[in-house]
Amino acid sequence: MCGHQSHHKLYAYEYIRHINHCSKTDCCQPNYTMTENPKTLLGLNVINGFTWPPLVHDTNPEKLANFKVREDDVFVLTYPKSGTHWTQKLVKNILFEGNNDKIRKDSESNPLGPIEFGDNYKKYDSLSTEKPRVMMIHVPVDVLPRQVFEGKGKVVFVIRNPKDNLVSYWNFLKDRQYLEEYEEWDSCFEASLRPDMLYGNWFDFNLPYYENHRNKKNFLFLTYEEMKLDHKGCVLRICDFLSRPLSEEQVDKVVENTSFSSMKASKPVLFFQGKPTYNLLRKGVVGDWKTRFTVAQKERFDAIYNQRMEGTALAKRIKFEI
Ligand code: A3P
Repeated sequence: MCGHQSHHKLYAYEYIRHINHCSKTDCCQPNYTMTENPKTLLGLNVINGFTWPPLVHDTNPEKLANFKVREDDVFVLTYPKSGTHWTQKLVKNILFEGNNDKIRKDSESNPLGPIEFGDNYKKYDSLSTEKPRVMMIHVPVDVLPRQVFEGKGKVVFVIRNPKDNLVSYWNFLKDRQYLEEYEEWDSCFEASLRPDMLYGNWFDFNLPYYENHRNKKNFLFLTYEEMKLDHKGCVLRICDFLSRPLSEEQVDKVVENTSFSSMKASKPVLFFQGKPTYNLLRKGVVGDWKTRFTVAQKERFDAIYNQRMEGTALAKRIKFEI
């Protein structure tokens, strides 16, 4: 054994189907290798010390770092469960002026899931240059396509307060069969504090981006809480960032199309091993952590938070309630 559990045929049958947004029946067929034993604990893939889900192949981080970026590319970059799908929908609505038919058509021609999965980077590479590509991505700073740091493309980066982020993450992870440790809240809480957490821990992932790149012209940083507090204001900020001014009427349409209720009504469901297992829209609120953190966990987390965030610019943006 080389120590990387997932080198050994462990690629999950996992993909997203936007039921009402996908009219092509074959669009949801995954191109990923199916795990031979669906009951297997799937294992994670540790590459250069960073923990990825099984769908990220060994060579993907390097391929992504060298990915050829186009001037009109938009990356929706997040730590998982920060509001990625919401932001992607916002960006697409803005680019397609709230026109649902155009958005649906675009989604059908795009690869499913984040760009780091499987061979999505190749699929994005082969897309026509006529339309901007909107790519969701969860990668640490050293894996983001290098050309982004040279000013190519644009990044909409969303950060969610780490307590709600973790509760949402646990609700997602507990049925994924990645690691037993992620199944129970208490052990997942402990795991989330370590650097070997899936996708790294919240601090290690977000701080290098925000502290070093928040003033870059091709990065827009938003928080989930800001989006909840001022949905329309955030739409306007994204319009401005993407240089896509919309009419008042179009802005209202974008807000309506991306509200929690209309997104929930479109039932974006995550399929796992062939079964619908997770609704990507769960509660969509700020402060849900209070229903899950014990007093001791809150105290322990706050101590770590204060230590890691002391003196950072990011500390000024994070809100645990609104
Ligand atoms: P909860 O699990 O707290 O409900 P991601 O897309 O990064 O996986 O993030 C998922 C989180 O974003 C979920 O949080 C989901 O409910 C929330 N979300 C998705 N769309 C939303 C919307 N339109 N408004 C508010 N929250 C939304």
